[in-house]
Amino acid sequence: MTNTYAVVLAAGQGTRMKSDLYKVLHPVCGKPMVEHVIDHIRGLGISRIVTIVGHGAETVEETLGEKSEYALQQEQLGTAHAVQQAERLIGDLDGTTMVVCGDTPLIRSETMEALIAHHKATGAKATILTAYADDPTGYGRIIRGENGQVLRNVEQKDATPEEQKVTEINTGTYCFDNRTLFETLKKVKNNNMQGEYYLPDVVGILQSESALVSAYVTGDFSETLGINDRVVLAEAECVMRRRIAEKHMRNGVTIINPENTYISAEAEIGRDTVLQPGTMIEGHTVIGNKCVIGPNSQIVNSVIGDRTTVHSSVVLSSRIGSVTAIGPFAHIRPDSNLGDSVKIGNFVEVKKSTLGEGSKVSHLSYIGDAKIGSHVNVGCGTITVNYDGKNKHLTTIEDDAFIGCNSNLVAPVTVGKGAYVAAGSTITKSVPESSLAIARARQENKEGYANKLNLN
Ligand code: UD1
Ligand code: CA
Repeated sequence: MTNTYAVVLAAGQGTRMKSDLYKVLHPVCGKPMVEHVIDHIRGLGISRIVTIVGHGAETVEETLGEKSEYALQQEQLGTAHAVQQAERLIGDLDGTTMVVCGDTPLIRSETMEALIAHHKATGAKATILTAYADDPTGYGRIIRGENGQVLRNVEQKDATPEEQKVTEINTGTYCFDNRTLFETLKKVKNNNMQGEYYLPDVVGILQSESALVSAYVTGDFSETLGINDRVVLAEAECVMRRRIAEKHMRNGVTIINPENTYISAEAEIGRDTVLQPGTMIEGHTVIGNKCVIGPNSQIVNSVIGDRTTVHSSVVLSSRIGSVTAIGPFAHIRPDSNLGDSVKIGNFVEVKKSTLGEGSKVSHLSYIGDAKIGSHVNVGCGTITVNYDGKNKHLTTIEDDAFIGCNSNLVAPVTVGKGAYVAAGSTITKSVPESSLAIARARQENKEGYANKLNLN
């Protein structure tokens, strides 16, 4: 979009959130709300985006990085004052500027696009995005004239009882002719209940100067929710959750119960994958086709191949191949890399370990800092003893090895290709290829001894 700019307001503290975290950084479906706003704007191909930062400026800039330019609002004197801070960067450009609040993460790119198109088509100097709310409490109200033309916006706190009955609200998103915006901002006064410079007053000022101002009404109020407290935060989460789930369902993912399945905005999920109830797919997770995830699995920042199942398990920052089975009740900790056709069974913890194709750890084991080849069978209750109290050490198990049940592998140690470890062994020395290691006390049977012990 040429000659089109965006300003995102994100300098407020968000007092009503009652939080140490700045409001615009509160996540909605795992992503900070202001980042949703920025991503939706970026979806339009707008070249210059200026985010107004104040409270938590550094953290906001760190979160958004290169996605935006920044202007600092030292003191939070109101939304008009906030926009003024962008003048230094874009004040002398010709074109259209869209202003969006950093706390309205649900406004979709499509709606922004429609607003901009409407604004350009009418040739208005200012266009305000409005919606009808069942309960407009807290929002600015749109006051229209006899012929339905937009006259001005009035804030909740400044509205007369009559004005408070109006259900058409200011969503906090606008389009302006860029030069007119910065000229008019200079005329905004703060003689209102909050002693703030209100951005929507620009609309009223322009109207009183007989400039053309317009409104674009969006049909879906839920899209325009402004998150001022945690009650609305939860409502927004619900709307966003539904929206993300619908996107995946339309792409061919089965979600048994979208109401209790949580998918991050970034996640990618392949066709014919089934998400069972109670599943959380978080962060930048990529899941292949025909997988079954859940019930009750949590997958964070991980990559999973095709036809893999993850049943009632936790997978963190790991890669998992195809046709692999995890769980129930397994814990795959960060930096693990499990190959294809691997089996990780119940009560198995894997940490920073690699398992090659076809290897199995079926029950009750701890595999940490291990490099396990392909077609290895790790018996029930095996432990890689990776920590000496100071340092972590590596366990290597080569292809086709067989580790008997209840073994301790005291790292650093290597079990060679095709070697066997007898059940109950504590292995402290490396086991050569194709050999059998037995490291346990030899059994002795004392015949008849039970009668001696059995004194009566
Ligand atoms: C604002 C609008 C209201 C609209 C509502 C929509 C004004 C005066 N009111 O009210 O008409 O219905 O949004 O959600 O604009 N901010 C700054 N600097 C400031 C003040 C605010 O950057 O000095 C930022 C905040 O971080 C926030 C956004 O602007 O992201 C909106 O501010 P907020 O205080 O939430 O305004 P509302 O009372 O919700
Ligand atoms: Ca708000």
